[in-house]
Amino acid sequence: MSPIAELSLAELAALRSSVEARYDAFRAQGLKLDMTRGKPASDQLDLANAMIALPGNGDYLSASGEDTRNYGNLQGLAEARALFAPVLGAPPEQIVVGDNSSLALMHDCIVYALLKGVPGSQRPWSKEQTPAFICPTPGYDRHFAILEDFGIRMLPVAMTDHGPDMDAVEKLAADPAVKGMWCVPKYSNPTGEIYSDETVARLAAMPTAAPDFRLFWDNAYCLHHLTERRNEIANILEECGRACHPDRAFVFASTSKMTFAGAGLAFFASSPANVRWYLARAGKRTIGPDKLNQLRHVRFLRDLAGLERHMDAHRALLAPKFVAVTDALQRHLGGSGTARWSAPEGGYFISVEVIEGTAKRVVDLAKAAGVALTPAGATWPYGEDPHDSNLRLAPTVPALADVRAASECIALCILLAAIEAQTALRASAA
Ligand SMILES: Cc1ncc(COP(=O)(O)O)c(C=O)c1O
Repeated sequence: MSPIAELSLAELAALRSSVEARYDAFRAQGLKLDMTRGKPASDQLDLANAMIALPGNGDYLSASGEDTRNYGNLQGLAEARALFAPVLGAPPEQIVVGDNSSLALMHDCIVYALLKGVPGSQRPWSKEQTPAFICPTPGYDRHFAILEDFGIRMLPVAMTDHGPDMDAVEKLAADPAVKGMWCVPKYSNPTGEIYSDETVARLAAMPTAAPDFRLFWDNAYCLHHLTERRNEIANILEECGRACHPDRAFVFASTSKMTFAGAGLAFFASSPANVRWYLARAGKRTIGPDKLNQLRHVRFLRDLAGLERHMDAHRALLAPKFVAVTDALQRHLGGSGTARWSAPEGGYFISVEVIEGTAKRVVDLAKAAGVALTPAGATWPYGEDPHDSNLRLAPTVPALADVRAASECIALCILLAAIEAQTALRASAA
């Protein structure tokens, strides 16, 4: 297709009628499809069903003989920490296995930092004047929601295809009010970006005016590949150590999208000082984590090879859904100059940049045709996309045939909204 900006008025009008007719045909089908949230589909959850029966038959003892049904062991079973050590890039003694949600661990770390400070703090973050966080954008809405809830200012920074714009990050970190930064370093939510080794090294080494600056390193998609390539990123804890900032990174991950979302294991990994700090706080909050679930995970997944095999089975279910989306976008929009989209090698999302000022219109058009999309703006701090141009597509939950139908419809909505905007532009210029 030719770029719509280059079409004559007559060609634009003809294209509009044909796209409207196809859009109306979608509306008439009465679709009811949901591409809003990045959750595993039921067939993915089924992959871990055998885990539910574990540990089974009275064998509740951990490798070191603890009764996992009882209180205690705040840090988590040694075998669970050992299993995930290579995934987290930390030795087992620098890992804490929490309960079922890494987001909850991130939330708690922010609350503890606000109320108590972190190692290296001169005072609790809440006693600073308006603490702020660097927020690579588009980003994860729930990260932003935590900051908004606690009145932490958000400073958006653009993504570059190899992580956040580091020149901008380094400038912002020179302000002592800037206490931290969100990072989803592999298969970022929603852009799918993979931080380059250079980005990771710069994040570890950059000067920060706040002595207690923290990278909230949310490696939520560490093993969630969509191709045969198992992309690796540089080890942030090692890089921070090398750069003489050993306490800079809080690393988080979970098995929410490996085993069960809501009934998995969450992890915190960091320097010895940060782990002591975290456990001192966590020990007031709980007498111990759910170690039965830890044992269940260890017995089901067994070792890194078992974990990778399990993730390959996820990939087999997920990859065709992502291909269905990018194929439909390419077929309907390729060459039209109306959108750019990510083709992620992992993670749970496809990010689409549409013509400035049309993202909300696309969401409304899709809704009217029975396809629910994440609200436009959700990927920006405070839910406000200043360009109204970013859409986050989440193709994991619907069945493949539904993803295909929804993607066709979304592509038409993007095209229709762009044609409407182009038509209005021509009218105002006339
Ligand atoms: C980047 C990111 N972090 C964290 C989470 C939630 O993780 P958990 O289920 O461990 O709380 C998600 C879920 O979509 C996510 O996309």
